[in-house]
Amino acid sequence: MILPMYIFGQPVLRKVAEAIDPATYPNLQELITNMFETLKRSEGVGLAAPQVGLPIRMFIIDLDVISEDEPAYKGYLHTFINPEILEESEETSSMEEGCLSIPGIHESVKRPEEVLVKYIDENLQQQERWLTGFEARVFQHEFDHLDGKMFVDHLSAFRKQLIKSKLIAMTKGKFSASYKCKANR
Ligand code: NI
Repeated sequence: MILPMYIFGQPVLRKVAEAIDPATYPNLQELITNMFETLKRSEGVGLAAPQVGLPIRMFIIDLDVISEDEPAYKGYLHTFINPEILEESEETSSMEEGCLSIPGIHESVKRPEEVLVKYIDENLQQQERWLTGFEARVFQHEFDHLDGKMFVDHLSAFRKQLIKSKLIAMTKGKFSASYKCKANR
């Protein structure tokens, strides 16, 4: 089932999400399936639960969609429950990011190049490992969503000013997206 994408301005995107007990959370597998279907339809690489209106600490990442260019990501469809970032590298890199909850805006964001993360995976196993490259980038973007943050928060005051009117318009439902959205319109 395709879920509506909550758009910038929807309060759930600014909430600090709650950890869940994956063993008892109702219909978790169904939610994960629906999130992957929603992500595929909207042609994104990551989707956090708050983006489909649920303030819980969980996100999914699909890097299989870029595996034609990056064969190492073939079959990469993963779920991250109650994730934590334990360490960050001092080395940073900048890359253009977008967000399904902020359609039409793409900006360069600086983030640590590598992160040591801990999470519960789709098989409900505890994992702890260093992420690097694009995987680290997407993880950090999705992780932000669980703390009510979005990539535009990382921009300089100057860049923020440049997109301000677009963001205000978005909160009033003025934007275009090719997928089902939940917005003020
Ligand atoms: Ni996002």
